[in-house]
Amino acid sequence: MPNKKCLVFFFFLFFLVIIGVIVICLIAKDGIKHKETESPFWQRTIVYQVYPRSFCDHDGDGTGDLQGILSKADYLKELGVGTVWLSPIFSSPMADFGYDVANFTAIEPLFGTMDDFDALRAALHDRGLRLVLDFVPNHSSDEHEWFVKSRRKEEPYADYYIWADPKGFDEEGQPIPPNNWLSVFRGPAWTWAEERQQFYFHQFLAKQPDLNYRNERVRDEMKQVLRFWLDRGVDGFRVDAVKFLFEVEDISQDESVANDPETDDPLDYYYLNHTLTTNQPETLEVVNEWRDILDQYSDRVMMAEVYDDDIRQVMKYYGNDSVPLADFPFNFLLIDSFRNRSDLSGAALKDALDLWMDNMPEGKWPNWVLGNHDNGRVGSRFGEDLIDALNMLVLLLPGTPVTYYGEEIGMLNTFISWEDTQDPQACNHGLDGYEDYSRDPERTPMQWDNSTLAGFTTGNSTWLPVNDNFKDLNVKAQQHAEKSHLKIYEELARLREEETFTKGHTAYPVISNEVFSLLRYLEGYESYLLVMNTSEEELEVDLHQHANMELPPTAEVVLRSVTDTAEATVPGSEIHLSEVKLAAGEGLLLTFSE
Ligand code: GLC
Repeated sequence: MPNKKCLVFFFFLFFLVIIGVIVICLIAKDGIKHKETESPFWQRTIVYQVYPRSFCDHDGDGTGDLQGILSKADYLKELGVGTVWLSPIFSSPMADFGYDVANFTAIEPLFGTMDDFDALRAALHDRGLRLVLDFVPNHSSDEHEWFVKSRRKEEPYADYYIWADPKGFDEEGQPIPPNNWLSVFRGPAWTWAEERQQFYFHQFLAKQPDLNYRNERVRDEMKQVLRFWLDRGVDGFRVDAVKFLFEVEDISQDESVANDPETDDPLDYYYLNHTLTTNQPETLEVVNEWRDILDQYSDRVMMAEVYDDDIRQVMKYYGNDSVPLADFPFNFLLIDSFRNRSDLSGAALKDALDLWMDNMPEGKWPNWVLGNHDNGRVGSRFGEDLIDALNMLVLLLPGTPVTYYGEEIGMLNTFISWEDTQDPQACNHGLDGYEDYSRDPERTPMQWDNSTLAGFTTGNSTWLPVNDNFKDLNVKAQQHAEKSHLKIYEELARLREEETFTKGHTAYPVISNEVFSLLRYLEGYESYLLVMNTSEEELEVDLHQHANMELPPTAEVVLRSVTDTAEATVPGSEIHLSEVKLAAGEGLLLTFSE
């Protein structure tokens, strides 16, 4: 009898366990399902680019570092950016400030240690922020051990780079490069290596030899690099200079002269057309191999850096269903289409947005880049009055916005004298030409507060000078001011999480020479209307008269540029859409129901 009771008891227990397992499975399945239907993180966040040398210097040597970035993790969280992309932090002699990598899987000591990296990743992840690294696949530093061995023809490295015999020798017995190809940074793309008695090819500096992607071993090595960082918990990569990966195999061919009236310097990169040295078909195969690797991990992003005048070339990097590539190539149209304020009009802005959207392959995701470490500051390119309006635009459009550090406070280009110039591209153009090419003005230290050296460093010097305007233009001042670029940015970052922006539709009710407008709407939710004055004059506009759709008589002000001080547009005020007054360059964000 006790045995029978025991049996019943065990049966009951067994039954309970089975039910428990089923319930747990159902909950887990639901959880997974939920995750599967959620959009990938990179579609939900702002990407914030940190240039590590310039963000925050913890050890006082005048150059930013990983511990410095970590000390600002709370700032980044509060700012509302969800993804942090770090420009290269790998071991480097710094000829191109980290874009010349001497060891792809080691941290540059100037920036800290692998422990510092792990701590930074953990600090960001703890705060729900993602971490993206720069992947620089096209070239390494000439100080990379692969190149040192390749130059000695040591196997298996002999063909890790692109080596070629001279075309001949000149009268002085000097070797002549195999063709006329030019480096992006000016001058021949071939440099003679005495040791090997051959030329090697470099799209950028002589200190940045191009890797040979026709060598399977090189492809494998670089895939290992991706796995190394993915295993260490990074959430993806920004892929540097990817269109330069391959050149035609037959290097006896010269590139044709561009006949561009703006370039008469035969050593300038733009003197030639680059049909033989960029966007070769094999490049996409390699990017697809990288995609495969990222897809073996969950929820990782690949953003590709591709500047090209031909939008169709750029779009290729999105790939398609059968050959998936990057999640997106960067959209540089807001940089490339407007070199000066005078290029900007409501209509031109709309054209730039359309150019991307009309060419983007079906089902792909847009992105909007206003600035980066290779282009001047937004306020200096467009005009300070447009800073808020442009942040409003890129943060409220559908797609992923990419913000370069300091743009949230409207940092401006810093004048850098020839003596202080660091950028190798600027140095290659000499005293007379350096200012047109220098990327130093947009790379100066982040302006944190009004203390000495803007609170960037505890030391007494900085690698590039701090902008003189730091006393007024800094994070702390903007945190305490009643209104500031920073406060507007934070508010936008919060707003863009609302359903109207995450799920809503997009329209452009009024577009003219002086006015650009963007409407985001979704049934059952508040609508938002951004009205922008792209001109340099104050403006009063009757939106009803010009709108291509019905608009309500009035709307409530949500946000306005710091330049607007009018009583009528204090946030919370009701304004008539038939008489909207805008300061020069202003962005005014309005809301209304239905
Ligand atoms: C990319 C980087 C740039 C660098 C170049 C060479 O364009 O953004 O800063 O100089 O690649 O790596």
